[in-house]
Amino acid sequence: PKVTYIEAGGASHDIDVAEGENVMRGAVYNGVEGIVGECGGGLACATCHCYVDEEWTGAVGGPSSQDEEDMLDSVAAERRPESRLSCQIVVTDALDGLVVHLPDHQY
Ligand code: FES
Repeated sequence: PKVTYIEAGGASHDIDVAEGENVMRGAVYNGVEGIVGECGGGLACATCHCYVDEEWTGAVGGPSSQDEEDMLDSVAAERRPESRLSCQIVVTDALDGLVVHLPDHQY
């Protein structure tokens, strides 16, 4: 499936991310600036914050767990209704074409 990452400065990256992989790793493994993923997906850092594009919020849904909900309170940039931790979004064929926007800072 393809995921489009749009940096805060406007740069856009179309990345093929393996099904079952998460959106954070798809960025980190492909050198997309704007997602750090410091804890490696362990719900312990909140440096993988992203904003799900409004076209996709229905398909992606809200926080996947109470732990994600709690960690979203710790994001460095503004938390918005479409905020998610990208390590908690698993890429599936149903999300092919997903667009996420990256905040301008993660610390
Ligand atoms: Fe640390 Fe997502 S990578 S919370």
